[in-house]
Amino acid sequence: MQDPLQFEGKRVVVTGAASGMGAATAALLSDLGAEVHGVDIATGSASVASFYQCDLSDPAQIDATVAAIGGRVDSLFNCAGLPTTAPGQKIMVVNYLGHRHLTEALLPSMPTGSSIGFISSVAGMGWQGNAELLLELAATKDFAAGQAWCEAHDDAIALNGYGFSKEAINAYVSWRGYQLATQVRINSIQPGPTDTPMMPSFVESMGEDFFAKFPKPVGRNSRADEQAWAIVMLNSPRSSYTAATNVFTDGGFTGGLFTGSIDFASLMPPA
Ligand SMILES: NC(=O)c1ccc[n+]([C@@H]2O[C@H](COP(=O)([O-])OP(=O)(O)OC[C@H]3O[C@@H](n4cnc5c(N)ncnc54)[C@H](O)[C@@H]3O)[C@@H](O)[C@H]2O)c1
Repeated sequence: MQDPLQFEGKRVVVTGAASGMGAATAALLSDLGAEVHGVDIATGSASVASFYQCDLSDPAQIDATVAAIGGRVDSLFNCAGLPTTAPGQKIMVVNYLGHRHLTEALLPSMPTGSSIGFISSVAGMGWQGNAELLLELAATKDFAAGQAWCEAHDDAIALNGYGFSKEAINAYVSWRGYQLATQVRINSIQPGPTDTPMMPSFVESMGEDFFAKFPKPVGRNSRADEQAWAIVMLNSPRSSYTAATNVFTDGGFTGGLFTGSIDFASLMPPA
């Protein structure tokens, strides 16, 4: 079969293309014959048709990047992110509000049958418990309104800005993905611990002991290329009936958690 994932000749945009999972995703899409447009605050990715240095915390830079990319976009890969060590409000702005702004700005350029994938995290798995709050945030009308909402809800964000940003992505994927399902499929993957340049920040926040004890049903952390394959397959036209959903790519962690084989409380540091 030629071009089994149907990315040959497709125009795609990848955020976080300078490092880790985003760089692996950009490289894989180039190998599959796509025209890849990379976006990152950092420079460089060898495997792209064009690269835009853009700070996703600045809506004006995002708008300028969208204008510079121009033309049709068949698939968007939202892979950039800040880790747990960054301040909570800044994490919300980059991981959630910046990606939401980019997504909404690109939508008019995306034809029927196109796709949008976010790299969320297993850290966002409990979003349904916070749905009322997260859907209120999802309904804020633009970047500035979203930022004002986040500042007014610092009590919810300060405790775990990273987890909240991933819950916010998952709620947005479900809500907006449902609204737009006839035009564009919106989904996310939920990786578990993955060996990328971000991993040391998680170890710094949670401690070596947490990750030493963290259950790994597959027997190891994941690699960037394994998450790249997952999001590329999710955004492929072959996944045409998968919409508005958040897919676990955590090596079996949530399987153990949701069936009681893993006791999450035992992983947490004593209060
Ligand atoms: N590594 C893990 O264990 C893990 C687990 C679950 C989810 N994730 C998520 O996976 C995604 C990819 O992370 P990674 O592990 O490849 O880390 P990484 O640090 O290698 O890549 C993150 C990229 O985001 C870019 N970025 C950061 N701030 C930005 C900004 N303001 N504007 C534009 N780009 C910006 C960075 O420059 C970097 O290239 C992130 O969303 C992260 O939250 C990571």
